[in-house]
Amino acid sequence: MKRIDDRLADYLDGLAPPAPGRLRDFQQAAYDEGLPIISRDVANFLSVMLAAKRPRNILEIGCAVGFSAALFAEFLPEGGAITTIDRYEYMINRAKENFASLGIEDKVRIIEECASIALPRLAEQGARFDFIFMDCGKGQYLRFFPYCLEMLASGGLLVADDVLQNGDIALDWAEITRRQRTTYKNMRDFLAAAMALEGCYSSILPIGDGLLLVAKE
Ligand SMILES: C[S@@+](CC[C@H](N)C(=O)[O-])C[C@H]1O[C@@H](n2cnc3c(N)ncnc32)[C@H](O)[C@@H]1O
Repeated sequence: MKRIDDRLADYLDGLAPPAPGRLRDFQQAAYDEGLPIISRDVANFLSVMLAAKRPRNILEIGCAVGFSAALFAEFLPEGGAITTIDRYEYMINRAKENFASLGIEDKVRIIEECASIALPRLAEQGARFDFIFMDCGKGQYLRFFPYCLEMLASGGLLVADDVLQNGDIALDWAEITRRQRTTYKNMRDFLAAAMALEGCYSSILPIGDGLLLVAKE
């Protein structure tokens, strides 16, 4: 993907440090295995946000093997909690093993079902989160966004990963293959809605494959 400039992007990627402390091996092993975890520069950026904000109640949509949830746990204040959602049994089992070996299983609750079922229920229950991380199927962000916004506390921050679709988000409609059109349209509508929100401040950063940030007043 061409971001700022490929040479500058490579230079910045090279500067991004590995995940803190005991997560370094977890992160590297996941990259070596080709598992779908957040990129090094996204992990680094989220660490900066978490160190500054220290959110107490975190929601993640898309747990996979639990790397990003384990990163969040590093910054969790005493008494804080992480809720993470995934529907893929293989990933959930791997995440449970990883949380147990890191000793963070009491800080992380895994909801083992599709977010399209879990999110409306959490919203209905009046759940509130001061940090929400969206990292599931990219075509679903638009549908899940209203529930996330409803559950985002005042002063809270929502981050959505991989919003630039390897740069394809900037292509003209005619250049998008028929197969990609729904995801492309959903992502474009999602970004347009996020950038036009009232009562929130939103920004899209070219970190990783693009991060959307929404801060609620
Ligand atoms: C990119 S991975 C998440 C990576 C993880 N956040 C990390 O960085 O360690 C995306 C995960 O989202 C899950 N997922 C995708 N759509 C979902 C849905 N509708 N409900 C629940 N999980 C979903 C997939 O099973 C996959 O494990």
